Amino acid sequence: MSTAAIIPAAGLGLRLGGEAPKALREVGGESLLVHALRGLRAATAADLVCFVVAVPPGSEHVVRTLLDPYAGDSALHIVAGGAERTDSVRHALELVPAEGIDCVLVHDAARSFVPVAVIERVVDAVRAGAPAVVPAIPVTDTVKRVDARGQVVDTPDRSTLVAVQTPQGFEPGLLRRAHACGGAVTGATDDAMLCERLGVTVQTVEGSEDAFKVTRPRDLLLAEWILAERRS
Ligand code: C5P
Repeated sequence: MSTAAIIPAAGLGLRLGGEAPKALREVGGESLLVHALRGLRAATAADLVCFVVAVPPGSEHVVRTLLDPYAGDSALHIVAGGAERTDSVRHALELVPAEGIDCVLVHDAARSFVPVAVIERVVDAVRAGAPAVVPAIPVTDTVKRVDARGQVVDTPDRSTLVAVQTPQGFEPGLLRRAHACGGAVTGATDDAMLCERLGVTVQTVEGSEDAFKVTRPRDLLLAEWILAERRS
């Protein structure tokens, strides 16, 4: 059986600033999107049959030209993303083949430097029978819930909290059902959340600090450093 990868890359990256959409910003001379795609391909256990990349509307042609040399044997589909991340994933999911896929990975272009081992752990867990899998790392800050006035409501026990990353892996039928029901969910920030709403148990596997999401300008410096370390 095979894996399909959806890459939501349609965010404008307003918090990052700059001219280009975030996924097209360069680190080490290559775009975040190329780094993300290369990482997925390097995870040989992933056995990728296709990539479906959701991009800012109007940039489809530019992104296809950019990614074509890196897709290898995998089919490459480019779709226009939507207003929210969930909309972008839903558009992309429509192009994932209905047959012959046992795992769909959803991977943020902005988590461009996730180690191969993390991707393989996610795929392995889905193939071992977990319907929804997310990489996770411990939370190091104390996290508080606050109200609209900024006043603290409570403090969840930190030992029970994790920060989740991508790629998240799913049994394909579950991901389709989750997105079919997800229209009513506003503000979903990942796909596992849509599965949780269906009452499905989501499994965590060990993530990595290198799988951080490039969000703010200083994150580009960290990304440059990680890349330099890997190349040295
Ligand atoms: O906005 P955030 O940083 O959570 O975005 C996570 C990922 O989702 C990024 O790779 C971004 O390009 C993507 N995204 C998208 N469509 C949107 C918003 C974000 O594909 N409308």
